[in-house]
Amino acid sequence: MITEQNVPLQPHNTFGIVARARLLVRVASTADVLAVLADPALAPEPKFVLGGGSNIVLTGDVRPVVLKVEIMGRRLVADTPRAWIVEAGAGEPWHGFVGWTLDQGLPGLENLALIPGTVGASPVQNIGAYGVELQDRFDSLDAVDLQTGREFTLDAAQCAFGYRDSVFKHTAAQAGDLGLAGRALITRVRFRLPKPWKPVLGYLDLERKMAETGVREPSARQIYDWICAIRSAKLPDPRVIGNAGSFFKNPTVTPEQCSDIIAREPGIVHYPMPDGSIKLAAGWLIDACGWKGKTVGNAGVYEKQALVLVNRGGTAHPATGGEVMTLAGAIQTSVYERFGIRLEPEPVVV
Ligand code: EPU
Repeated sequence: MITEQNVPLQPHNTFGIVARARLLVRVASTADVLAVLADPALAPEPKFVLGGGSNIVLTGDVRPVVLKVEIMGRRLVADTPRAWIVEAGAGEPWHGFVGWTLDQGLPGLENLALIPGTVGASPVQNIGAYGVELQDRFDSLDAVDLQTGREFTLDAAQCAFGYRDSVFKHTAAQAGDLGLAGRALITRVRFRLPKPWKPVLGYLDLERKMAETGVREPSARQIYDWICAIRSAKLPDPRVIGNAGSFFKNPTVTPEQCSDIIAREPGIVHYPMPDGSIKLAAGWLIDACGWKGKTVGNAGVYEKQALVLVNRGGTAHPATGGEVMTLAGAIQTSVYERFGIRLEPEPVVV
């Protein structure tokens, strides 16, 4: 367990926002987490769990003790006739973990390649891309309750996954016993990769790749390569342009609301969901309001994908969290005024 004071957080958030942590503790094992909770000075303090910092907007210095999760390790836990079970430490970078599974000949996570962040953060927002959500490959996770020091394991049902949502995004006050926001530190996550492997190719961008290349039966490695190419072409690399991925969730509306909007806006991009609701492309809504490429202070809307807000000031003159939130608020207002739809931010605002 290593404790540091007055730590710059700019290298620890993919937006590249400048802020400081009063106290930052690097935790490399469950024992480290338990040591923090047993420490007389640290135990009573509020805690903030930091993974790869790829889904947060820092709006000021962080007063709670920052627990930087650096629990590593990857292994095949079980090889059964129906699935491979793989496990990774919460501090493992997600994309590296996906590559490792493929190197081991364990397919199933390839559609989730190149998502920034750590393994421990992946269940929090139930990451998803190109037709696969984390919940489709999730087995279970281990965590520590930061209030009681109790270690516990949750299965998928207990995580209450939803679209970019889980039990880890809700406080107990909002969700009763189900809320674990600010309370759980995830230490390890296990994934269930079903056998036989079946490619997930239904997404339009992947269909285009198949048509372009003539490859009709791609391997998991081929899909991984395609996903990396698709994402790189559309999304900014956080190492080059600070960002937190999609800034808003894609909103859902009723079929009636959707017909009403289509009558006014025939071009609106929408997808029917299995539960009968309709999902609208938030990127399209923002784009339609003319935001693509716009800038407020040093915060901007990415030129190639209006759903992504970016830091235009680099590391020298980075956007502040306030500028990012002002821009986000202006976008929400204009989308609401034009479409009557309230966009909900995806990252956690700290
Ligand atoms: N669109 C526009 N203008 C834009 C952006 C998008 O018209 O500026 C249209 C596109 O033409 C497309 C539709 O909106 O028809 C949807 O766009 P895209 O396929 O890029 O997907 P998305 O809905 O914007 C979601 C996820 C991404 C994920 C992709 C692929 C959310 C909030 N975002 O984006 O996840 O990679 O699908 O599955 O669900 C993330 O969460 O950080 C993230 C990047």
